[in-house]
Amino acid sequence: MPAKYDTLLVLDFGGQYCHLIVRRIREHGVYSEIVPHDISPQEVAALDEKFNIKGLILSGGPSSVYEPNAPKLHPNILETNLPILGLCYGHQLLAQLVNGKVEPAVCKEYGAAQVNIDKPVGVLEGLSITEQVWMSHSDTVVEPPPEFEALAHTDNCPVAAFRHKTKPLYGLQWHPEVIHTKNGAHMLQNFIFQICRAQANWQMENLIDKMVKELQTETGGGRAIIGLSGGIDSSVAATLAAKALGEKLTAVYVDHGFMRAGETEAIRTAFEKFDIHFIVADAQERFMNKLQGVIEPETKRKIMGEEFIRVFEEIAAQSGAEYLIQGTIYPDRIESGFRKNSDKIKSHHNVAGLPEKIKFKKILEPLGDLYKDEVRKVARMLGLPKEIVNRQPFPGPGLAVRIIGPLTEEKVSIAKKSDKIVREEIERCDLIENLWQYFSVVTDTKATGVKGDARAYGYMVAVRAVESKEAMTASFAKIPYEVLERISTRITNEIPQVTRVVYDVTHKPPATIEWE
Ligand code: XMP
Repeated sequence: MPAKYDTLLVLDFGGQYCHLIVRRIREHGVYSEIVPHDISPQEVAALDEKFNIKGLILSGGPSSVYEPNAPKLHPNILETNLPILGLCYGHQLLAQLVNGKVEPAVCKEYGAAQVNIDKPVGVLEGLSITEQVWMSHSDTVVEPPPEFEALAHTDNCPVAAFRHKTKPLYGLQWHPEVIHTKNGAHMLQNFIFQICRAQANWQMENLIDKMVKELQTETGGGRAIIGLSGGIDSSVAATLAAKALGEKLTAVYVDHGFMRAGETEAIRTAFEKFDIHFIVADAQERFMNKLQGVIEPETKRKIMGEEFIRVFEEIAAQSGAEYLIQGTIYPDRIESGFRKNSDKIKSHHNVAGLPEKIKFKKILEPLGDLYKDEVRKVARMLGLPKEIVNRQPFPGPGLAVRIIGPLTEEKVSIAKKSDKIVREEIERCDLIENLWQYFSVVTDTKATGVKGDARAYGYMVAVRAVESKEAMTASFAKIPYEVLERISTRITNEIPQVTRVVYDVTHKPPATIEWE
């Protein structure tokens, strides 16, 4: 196992494909992280203590280099002497930094384009004379900077790719990270291995050992508790923590009352088989009391985040635990607003939902750098049973973020029953393989209906089923009408308070997966 992973840093200029670059690099077995766009050479050097930094990639972004507040590179970034690859906005910024000529494009290019490769060298080695690429830009580099040479052009973009004549500095006007750039993986591979000379030493086997050792080092023989919701992330984190800490770990399942029907029993059965000290904290009443009358989604999330911690603190006081371990993953951190140029979308309860004052020495997040599919890989390697590996993700605040408006016992009961029906019908039809999540939402809207020849005025329940790879983007699933019909019939028949069922046909973006 290497002491440090070879790593490429992706400088974040706010582009929608930023996290895709990271994923593409990781797919080559090389570690990668998103860092702020104006990271200084000193900050890169500091990161080099932990990772073996081999190169920098400048992401795309929505700005024009001419906008007054456009995000810029640190002026001394070239002093790192690391290989640099600028993509799209990053390509223009790199050109601007080294005195190239960047101008607003005469003709803007969006979408698929043909690029002529004039010199198939460096990042472009092994490519054909013309390549299909994905463009999305309004500025363009019209002249290569001094000491640089142009490597490719399109009809509207004279310098679609360039490189420094002697240093490992490259720019591409297009996005090699999206699948529409046909040989994008090959271009990134050239940069990672030929230009940066990185080793593919970020392998899952190594990673498990490393995460276990880090947990041992960070807890230094102390006791810890882990919040176990039964979703895939916390299950994997708990298994790793149990490997690291043995009997010094207590896994706590907080039953806040907004769990799915049958969930508590299912989790208890699944985890009683493991060699883990597992306890269930019945906290239904205290959560409901705190949430009385709360409507605003972010407030709900914050209250729940705080209450979770208070429950954990009480249990820690009994067991002598000084550390709290959580199953937070990389997208949770991104969406909770840790990227400088991206907005906070929502406070994932275990990240931004945390209260300011916490009675733990430290919170540890062993999976904090991983995407969901990487967590599933780790789960398989740890030998976790299929029913845990394939569990659909379930948000920490549970059904509370699937009940719009004030939380009442009646709405919670509708949420549990309708969610169970959605699960049963979808699982019965073998549809789950392609689905990321499928669930119901109890809206705060009421609608008129007719039941048994009488007027009924009841709740509207929405059904949501999405396909996704890592939850950063998602598409609504085109599940067959017959299945929707069965779900709708059962919900309206079996839950008297519901008069209407609708299907959510919104992608993410612009929607999020959960309704709150
Ligand atoms: P959104 O709704 O942000 O959800 O598109 C993306 C994914 O994250 C899950 N999710 C959460 N998971 N704590 C979690 O552990 C949370 O607070 C939380 N909020 C959303 C959501 O179910 C989806 O898979």
